[in-house]
Amino acid sequence: MISLFQPAPSLPKLPPSEHFWMPRDASVTAANIDWLYMFMVWMSVICTVGIFAAMAYFCTKYRATSRKANERAERSSDHNTTLEVTWSIIPLFVVIALFVWGFKGFVDLRTPPKDSLEIHAIGKRWAWSFQYPHGVDNALHVPVDRNVRIVIQSLDVLHSLYIPNFRTKMDAVPGRYTDLWFRATEAGEFPIFCAEYCGTSHSDMLSNVVVHPPGGYEKWVKEQIEIANSLPPVELGKRVYEKQGCNACHTIDGSPKIGPTWKGLFGKNESLQSGRNVKVDENYIRESILDPQKEIVAGMPNSMPVTKLSDREITGVIEYLKTLK
Ligand code: CUA
Repeated sequence: MISLFQPAPSLPKLPPSEHFWMPRDASVTAANIDWLYMFMVWMSVICTVGIFAAMAYFCTKYRATSRKANERAERSSDHNTTLEVTWSIIPLFVVIALFVWGFKGFVDLRTPPKDSLEIHAIGKRWAWSFQYPHGVDNALHVPVDRNVRIVIQSLDVLHSLYIPNFRTKMDAVPGRYTDLWFRATEAGEFPIFCAEYCGTSHSDMLSNVVVHPPGGYEKWVKEQIEIANSLPPVELGKRVYEKQGCNACHTIDGSPKIGPTWKGLFGKNESLQSGRNVKVDENYIRESILDPQKEIVAGMPNSMPVTKLSDREITGVIEYLKTLK
């Protein structure tokens, strides 16, 4: 299991969900969706129980005791217009009400408020990353009680950004932007899933939303900028490895995963699919990060996405690799 989750000890531990079968609702739009859902569930339960109860009652009450009695019953069955109009009109109004209620909720969900804070989300096999003023992070950090619009992209195949606690989900489609918005109502951490089957490690494509208490988000951004500018290269490289999702495909302990392990990689002779042999040095690593499709290591899938790193970050990764002997 990849350790994607960065502990945030300052955040309150949330009590369990107040719902029986739904995760805790933590956004402004969640309550409406839950109401609609529960209304449909209970309406279905009541109708089902009612229909089966009536069926059982009629079966017992009008059960024919002989063939003769049965024939008489068939002849006397009749038509009742009032009853038929009633059981058609009432459900019609219920269905119209459900449509209006659902459509209004849908429009609300699809219309991000103009004052939203925008954060870009990038899906790639098999990790989410989120862009902030200081760079990227593998967790979605947002302020509490503020409208947030997430602009979603995919670098490879279809993914879907899913935040159950906010009752919101949107596909990440290669070659176009999609979006979703929410307004978190309480500080805390909530899981993010990929809800579109995207290959081998689809179920590991996890992240979380960190909802900061008032003032916490601004403080966090400031801290991140300071860290990015002041970390020594090796530590910056380690941070990139964890935050950019490199760890989704590369291990640092020599165990196999989708891409080559980073342990002992620096200085190694690697045979490529093109038949060429290269020594893993600074320039080879730099090229592999900036243009990962150019040369593929023999026996490995061609699945590394392009990752935008600054020169400082690339140097950091190289220096970090050197320490993994
Ligand atoms: Cu990404 Cu499933």
